Amino acid sequence: MKSSRKIAIVARTKTVSTRSFNMSSKRQILVTNALPYANAALHLGHVLEYTQTDVWVRFQRMRGHECYYLSADDAHGTAIMLKADEKGITPEEHIAAMRAIHEADFRDFYISVDNYHSTHSDENRELSELIYNRLNTNGHIAKREITQAFDPEKNLFLADRYIKGTCPKCKTDDQYGDNCEACGATYSPTDLINPVSVISGATPIEKASTHYFFKLPEFTQFLKEWTRSGAVQDEVANKLGEWLDSGLQEWDISRDAPYFGFEIPNAPGKYFYVWLDAPIGYMASFKNFCDRENIDFDHFWKKDSPTELYHFIGKDIVNFHALFWPAMLTSAEFRTPTKICVHGFVTVNGKKMSKSRGTFINARCYLDHLNPEYLRYYYASKLSGSVEDIDLNLEDFQQKVNSDLVGKVVNIASRCAKFIANGNDGVLSSTIENPELWAQVSGAADKIAEHYENRDYSKAIREIMAQADAANEYIASKEPWKLNKDESKKQEVQDICSLGINLFRVILTYLKPVLPAMTEAGEAFLNDSLNWNSVQQPLTNHKINPFVPLMQRIEKEKVDAMIEASKEEAASATLRTGPLVDDPIAAEISFDDFIKVDLRVALIVKANHVEGAEKLLQLTLDIGGETRNVFSGIKSSYKPEDLEGRLTVLVANLAPRKMRFGMSEGMVLAAADSNGIYLLEPDSGAQPGQRIS
Ligand code: 2FM
Ligand code: ZN
Repeated sequence: MKSSRKIAIVARTKTVSTRSFNMSSKRQILVTNALPYANAALHLGHVLEYTQTDVWVRFQRMRGHECYYLSADDAHGTAIMLKADEKGITPEEHIAAMRAIHEADFRDFYISVDNYHSTHSDENRELSELIYNRLNTNGHIAKREITQAFDPEKNLFLADRYIKGTCPKCKTDDQYGDNCEACGATYSPTDLINPVSVISGATPIEKASTHYFFKLPEFTQFLKEWTRSGAVQDEVANKLGEWLDSGLQEWDISRDAPYFGFEIPNAPGKYFYVWLDAPIGYMASFKNFCDRENIDFDHFWKKDSPTELYHFIGKDIVNFHALFWPAMLTSAEFRTPTKICVHGFVTVNGKKMSKSRGTFINARCYLDHLNPEYLRYYYASKLSGSVEDIDLNLEDFQQKVNSDLVGKVVNIASRCAKFIANGNDGVLSSTIENPELWAQVSGAADKIAEHYENRDYSKAIREIMAQADAANEYIASKEPWKLNKDESKKQEVQDICSLGINLFRVILTYLKPVLPAMTEAGEAFLNDSLNWNSVQQPLTNHKINPFVPLMQRIEKEKVDAMIEASKEEAASATLRTGPLVDDPIAAEISFDDFIKVDLRVALIVKANHVEGAEKLLQLTLDIGGETRNVFSGIKSSYKPEDLEGRLTVLVANLAPRKMRFGMSEGMVLAAADSNGIYLLEPDSGAQPGQRIS
């Protein structure tokens, strides 16, 4: 049944401006998130950025603006080439597989991209060549010879992170080519003592080659003005100001073959550095979308375009987006971004995400255990539009979602719905019982819109929850469940609960950018579609549908299970894939160190599947009269029945580890590569319990 809204009732409510924030005209907006590398799974840090972007995009669309959200996989570079190599597949096969995984993660977190593309695409090749040619024509490309570290075995120039050695300052072994994790010193790889290539273990040599540079210093004055024009947050502008004042360097945009990327025009064997064509991937994704949807690409990207362009990124990639990118766009005669929206990193329980603590949580692992909207809500409640890090405190997460969404928002509807269903056949009253309260809750729309617009979602959520509190207090004070016992108060009950449902509808509308799935279920219940502007009009004489619970509480067991699964994933990932590149020998230890590790011959008496564990087998081991229970991530390569009766090697004095499935008392030894896992086995004749040395 269609709602009939009574003008008279609306007129009784306090007049609220129907002019909404910045609604004077329809805006045309392009929005992007940082393109994820096609070499790793997405984790909860990525999800923060995509949630921040998606909430903003959904809000803009709700306000009636023409807003397109573009994303893609960032598919080029040495790391992706090596990863494909290690897996024995082509880079194209590798990036296609990763793209499918990323797209599924985006979809399942309700990230409403209009187009998901790849930087390894025809559109990106054409646009990268076009932009490079324009930079070159405009005199902004320099060419000169430089000397770099080179792996003589792999025939590959080595970026700093592919070289390790001993720190020249504090003499700590196993440090990367640019800085020492032990003493914090920064240096160049040639300063390292005994440098080795992380890829082959060979000693790098110095080799010269010609490189292409973008003349960034020529844009210093432009960037000084642009970065102070409101295009970045003040705190970011200040940081950029320091870099700009200390002088910019020319930017090396080329890499030598072999490299997975696009060859530079008229420069055989030279490729665009991944960071040159990555941001152009934003344009390429939009071009691909425009060609399909018949949209005017140039209108959005031409110099002085009247449209808006927003890039959401993390604080680690500000230089690429707020220096190189606007300078390139200017040189190539395209528009520059309206705003670069920079966010901080995610910490979990106050600490950096950690694999061993199980807090390095992949997007898929989260999805396997918890509802994506819990996290969308929690992140939204913490995002303020600043570059501060965001802490995912798991206890607070559980408490806040349960108390706000289940305890406050859904509670309004669940307390009122049954009276409307039973008392008036599901039809809402024709009057608004408390016009002041209605005016207050529906009148918060502009303020909340302004917070969303400014990406200060934490303020928007605080305001929304204040309105939910007001609605709950109203219902609690009226006690419709008591009134309903009195036959003469039945109409009053209907009026109170109808207002309750109307307040719920307004609050849900405010939450729609954050909670798309819960809102959709709410729309089915309300028999109404929720739009920003319609919150001013209450539903009267309107039939609603039977209530169904819209959100379940977070159970602590599910959060714990996710952490356990993350630990398990981290442990078996090392076993399954082995290290990314050849693993150099670890730093020397003394015999006394070695002898501390008690290795014993162990007989596998029993091997079982572990319910709920994807990668683990449970092993019962006999080590000479003593029995040990060990969980091992070897399931992908062994059937339990094939293991029983075999001997293997156990680290017998490893501290026991509490896992979700029980205590693991030690660790069995295995080698691994991308083809499988190889359990160590002593020669026949060895006896359970014998010490290995
Ligand atoms: O830092 C990263 O994960 C990059 N792949 C981001 C690229 S953003 C854009 F420039 F493509
Ligand atoms: Zn050092």
